[in-house]
This record gives sequence, structure tokens and C-alpha cells, in this order.
Amino acid sequence: MVWLRTVCRSRLTRALATVASLGLCIGGCSSGGGTAASEDGGIGGSGGVNAEAGPADSGGRPDARPETNLPRFLSETGLYADISTEELSPDVQWYEPQWLLWSDGATKDRWLRLPPGQKIDSSDMSFWSFPVGTQVWKDFTRDSVRVETRLLEKTAADTWEMVAYQWNDSQSEAEAVPAGVDDASGTPHDVPSSRQCDTCHGAMNGDVVTSVSALMLSHAGAGMNLTTLSDDDLLTDPPAADFQIPGDAAAVAAIGYMHANCGICHNPTSAIFTTVDMALWQDVTQLGSVEETTTWQTAVGVRQSTGGADRIEPGNPDLSALVARLSTRGLIGMPPLGTEDVDQTGIDVVRSWISSLSVDGGVVDGGVPDAGDGG
Ligand code: HEC
Ligand code: HEC
Repeated sequence: MVWLRTVCRSRLTRALATVASLGLCIGGCSSGGGTAASEDGGIGGSGGVNAEAGPADSGGRPDARPETNLPRFLSETGLYADISTEELSPDVQWYEPQWLLWSDGATKDRWLRLPPGQKIDSSDMSFWSFPVGTQVWKDFTRDSVRVETRLLEKTAADTWEMVAYQWNDSQSEAEAVPAGVDDASGTPHDVPSSRQCDTCHGAMNGDVVTSVSALMLSHAGAGMNLTTLSDDDLLTDPPAADFQIPGDAAAVAAIGYMHANCGICHNPTSAIFTTVDMALWQDVTQLGSVEETTTWQTAVGVRQSTGGADRIEPGNPDLSALVARLSTRGLIGMPPLGTEDVDQTGIDVVRSWISSLSVDGGVVDGGVPDAGDGG
């Protein structure tokens, strides 16, 4: 069975939808803002899906719309050769990025499947592009319960489909829940709707994948990484070596944390960048020094868009707007989605880096770095 609805949107439309939904719909618009709702006569049927998967809790949600062409059951997506034994399909690769998105303590596994014989286009090393047919899954375990497995699938040149599958109680199958589920499977974990997936992932260039990327996979740990991708000839432009965030341990930890947790929205390809010109996603051609990184260039000593505080005030985390946003939830909390609890470890990492910066920050007016060290 297939959901006859598409989330196909052009990059621009998707980006605008991101801004609209963040600006207007957090906390609850009554009707979906996307155009996709009227684009086809799809069978949708959120009631059906959610009635079977548990209480839909669609009341009051901004996005209680089914929006995916993906299979109804996880067993049909190709992740498992046999879901009953959890044997993976042979061409599925497990991996772990070196920095992880905070999800209120949930633990996750991730897998990539490329279509046979196809490569990732790595000609822009900071923003890879994927062949049609690419699939990436990520599952979430909260309080020892495996709640959901998410799927991103590139179904056409400009189309990524996104949905979460919620596991049943016996853990034998998972079913698509395009409208999302709050407090799913007896845990405090909220399964995002397909539209919420798009709010984050749609902000990431035309190709929505973030953890399958050069810097995130520049590690020598287990599973697929940048070296195995190069060795397996799966990149059009294999890099000569791994990439490394510059600076001392504090800088690496903080810049890496923000790369993974904030860069999906705060990057130059996102529509958000047109109003908030802050790039926390690293450009791998700007890793020569801490001062060269996008984070330094666009945040350290740079006034926030609404005036008042600097995004990062060197030496002073308490006066840094970015720390304030990271340290709260609700309307101004960052990230604005996907989390209800602050990430104290992440806050500590960012605070200690900011504290370590010299008070003049080594920057001159306008956030342009001078030759100071700052890192
Ligand atoms: C709060 C923003 C946010 C939301 C909402 C969100 N994601 Fe993600 N997702 C991320 C980030 C950041 C990563 C990379 C870091 C990681 O995997 O820990 C990621 C990783 C993934 C991955 C691994 C591949 C990749 O892009 O890195 C998959 C698959 C995925 N998400 C699917 C989904 C689906 C499907 C939904 C909706 C049901 C969704 N996500 C909702 C931010 C989000
Ligand atoms: C889902 C997309 C998304 C994610 C993920 C996200 N942000 Fe934001 N952020 C926004 C949007 C949209 C705005 C502009 C609206 C606003 O100020 O609330 C913004 C604004 C900001 C601002 C204000 C900057 C200025 O100059 O006005 C800061 C600081 C910020 N974010 C920090 C972060 C940090 C730190 C993270 C990661 C922990 C993060 N954001 C993750 C969407 C996101």
C-alpha cells in the first residue's frame, strides 16, 4: 500500500514553507500552510493510519496531514531483509556521525542505502547531493522502548519523501504515522509529523540529508565513514583526507555540536539565512583556523538580527544570545523543534568554548576576524 500524496516541493517553496511554519505555526496553526494538501486526491486517510497506530492526537496539531508516497509499513521499505529477525538488507550500511542531534536523551541507529551502482555527488564537499533512490533510516529508542524509525527517501530529482514509522508493542512491525504522535508508545517522546521533518530537513539545501556528509563522517569509528565511502568508490569526488574542525578541544566540541544541532537550519542554503545570516553548518573549505569557520565569521562578535546582544560575545556566555536560545525551550528556544528538554551537555560545551575566547574576541567591528587567536 502506498500513500498517494507527495511532499514534492521545489527548494524555494520548501524553504519558504520552513519560514512560514516556524514563524507562524509553532505551537499550533489550525490549518496546514502547505500547498501539498490540495495537490492531489490522494487517499491520505490519516484517520486510518493513526487509528491503527494509536491515538492520533491530531486535534490542534498544525500538520495533521498525511503527506507521503512511502510504503505504509517499515517492512516494505527495504531496511530489513527480514523484519522478524531484524536481519538488515545486504546493501544497507550502518553508520554514526561524529556529532549527534540531541533528542531529549533518545538513542539512535542510522543506515544508508544507495541505489545499486550509484554514487553520492560530492563535488560540493560541504553539501553533498544524492542519487534518486537514496534511502536513509534512523530509529529512536527512548527509555529502552524502540519508538520509531524515520525514513528519508529521494524519489525524484527534486523530491525527498519523509515519514516516521511507529513500532507496534510486540516490536514486529512499524507503521507510517505521517501526522506524528505525541508521547508515543508510553514514553515522553514525540514522533514528528512529515511536515515537521520537512521544516528541519527541507532547510538543508536541495538534498535534505545531514549526517551523511563529509565532516560528520570524518572519523575512524565503526561503520560507514568518509574513508569507507571513498574506498568503496561511492563518492564522485573523494577527498584526499578527513576534515577536521580547527582549534582546541573546546572549540572542536562546540563548533561540532552546533554543526550537528543547528546547521540543518542555520546554513546559507536555508531560507532562514535570508533573515538570520548566521551559518553554524561548517563549510569544509573554511577549516583552516577557528577564525575562518562559518561559526566564527557569522556569530562571534556579530550582533543578533534583532539587535541588542551579540550572537556570541567572546568570553561571556551569559551575554551571548545564542546561549540564551540554546538554554531554553518554548517560543525562543533553539532548536525550535524536536526537543522539549534542554541539552545540558551541549550547553556546557558551548558555554565553555565561549568562556575561553579572549574578551576582545580577536575580532574587529562587523565580526570580521583579525589575526588574533580566539580559539
Ligand atoms: C529538529 C529538527 C529535525 C526534525 C524535526 C527531524 N529531523 Fe531528522 N535529523 C535532524 C538532524 C540535525 C539530523 C542529523 C544528526 C543526527 O542524525 O543525529 C537528522 C538525521 C536524520 C536522518 C539520518 C540522515 C540525515 O539526514 O542525517 C534521518 C533518516 C532523519 N533525520 C529522518 C527524519 C524524519 C523522517 C523526520 C520526521 C518524521 C525527521 N528526521 C525530523 C533534524 C531533524
Ligand atoms: C528548525 C530550524 C532551526 C534549528 C534546528 C535551529 N534554529 Fe535557530 N533559528 C531558526 C529560525 C527560523 C530563527 C529566526 C526566528 C527566531 O529568531 O526565532 C532562528 C534564530 C536563531 C537565533 C537568533 C539569531 C539572530 O541573529 O537573530 C539564534 C542565536 C539561534 N537561532 C541559535 C540556534 C542554535 C544555537 C541552534 C542549535 C542548538 C539553532 N538555532 C537551531 C531556526 C532553527
